[in-house]
Amino acid sequence: MLPVGYLASPLVFALISKVIAHRFSRSYRMSDVLSLFSLNGRTALVTGASGGIGREAALTLANAGARLVLVARIAERLEAVRKQIVAAGGQAFAFACDVSDHSAVDQLAHELEQAQMLPDILVNNAGTIDRSPFGKVEASEWERVISLNLTAPFMLAQAFVPAMRAKKWGRIVNVASILALQGKPNAHSYAATKHGLAGLTRSMASELGSEGICVNALCPGYIRTEINVVLQNDAEFNARMISRVPLKRWGSVDDLRGPLLMLCSEASSFVNGHLMVVDGGLTVTH
Ligand SMILES: NC(=O)c1ccc[n+]([C@@H]2O[C@H](COP(=O)([O-])OP(=O)(O)OC[C@H]3O[C@@H](n4cnc5c(N)ncnc54)[C@H](OP(=O)(O)O)[C@@H]3O)[C@@H](O)[C@H]2O)c1
Repeated sequence: MLPVGYLASPLVFALISKVIAHRFSRSYRMSDVLSLFSLNGRTALVTGASGGIGREAALTLANAGARLVLVARIAERLEAVRKQIVAAGGQAFAFACDVSDHSAVDQLAHELEQAQMLPDILVNNAGTIDRSPFGKVEASEWERVISLNLTAPFMLAQAFVPAMRAKKWGRIVNVASILALQGKPNAHSYAATKHGLAGLTRSMASELGSEGICVNALCPGYIRTEINVVLQNDAEFNARMISRVPLKRWGSVDDLRGPLLMLCSEASSFVNGHLMVVDGGLTVTH
């Protein structure tokens, strides 16, 4: 037992004060760092928001406080997501629009400007694939994939960057793929567009960064959604792919929530031109 007088000594007093101050400053910093992920006061536009990765992205950004502009072609599916966000206390507006149609994108931008809903966060997520072998790729299919996966993100960014410039703050996240980094049989136009999206991301990042706009790409590995039902039902593909993923499973849309929120928020204030791979380690494994 220490004598009571010892506890009152200046040295022990200073030590105890330091420990208490350290604990309080840590808890202060904890709440401060979480606020970096808040999207209160932001407006986010997500393309392909009615299903798969885009739907989860929209729910995530709304959950973090953003007002959502939901875009896809089929109004009924979009409306279901809008209702889900509103029921959870968020704000969301649905716009049925084919983003591979330039005039429809112009019209969307015009309507959002009129409604004072121009986004400061743009998630270019809508995408498609053609699984033809090389010799069977048709010109019309090639064009369809290029126009949705590559031209639409460019057109949408051109439409919305001016408003981000005016606010001196913006976030653009292009949903690419691990096929922005590597090739694959039967995915020629898809890989070409995702490599193109990586280049667009980097060149936009290098030009727009000085205006407070960060442009990054999210590169998911295999995530269970409608786009890859064929692969999910292919036993041989499943065995081969899962054996190569260190985490030994398919990804789920939930796995993308944290990385996406980081790229859309103040948490990524010095992240610009980055390709963020979220693939369970697939691409780093030989
Ligand atoms: N799932 C994966 O494993 C994976 C991996 C890497 C990258 N990605 C990328 O992630 C993105 C989303 O993929 P996903 O798996 O979520 O696909 P998905 O489940 O097929 O969803 C596609 C979404 O895009 C919308 N869409 C399709 N064409 C459109 C158009 N012309 N204009 C506007 N919206 C359109 C669809 O709604 P409507 O049909 O109503 O328009 C739907 O909301 C794509 O860019 C994809 O390449 C996916």
